[in-house]
Amino acid sequence: MPFINWDSKYEFGIQEIDNQHKKLADLINKIYDAHNEGHGRDVLGSVFMDLVFYTKIHFNKEENYMEEANYPNLDEHRKLHRELTDQVHQLEQKYKSGDLNIDNKLLEFLKDWLSNHILTEDKKYVPYLKK
Ligand code: FEO
Repeated sequence: MPFINWDSKYEFGIQEIDNQHKKLADLINKIYDAHNEGHGRDVLGSVFMDLVFYTKIHFNKEENYMEEANYPNLDEHRKLHRELTDQVHQLEQKYKSGDLNIDNKLLEFLKDWLSNHILTEDKKYVPYLKK
């Protein structure tokens, strides 16, 4: 069973967004698997960097869609994205400097970080993007 068990509750019926969210979940699952398989910092670090990189790509894309749809809460959502990006960026910096271990606490944080954002904040724009 994957760490994040992807199912229909995460899907909005907006293909590109759904694919990007799934990719973020896959990357967190990859970190979880690499951690459980006992891989070293090189493998874990590289997947962690991919997560940070892909998060930025996804947030930009999503903001473009919200802008095109004149989503009224765009500024608020953008602010949340900045905060989430800062959080993963800080984790990345700590990891690089050796001040962070990838452990169950961090993995649970990443899981909540992604699923809470999709299920609470992202969900709000769906009717606007589907118009
Ligand atoms: Fe899908 Fe707002 O991130």
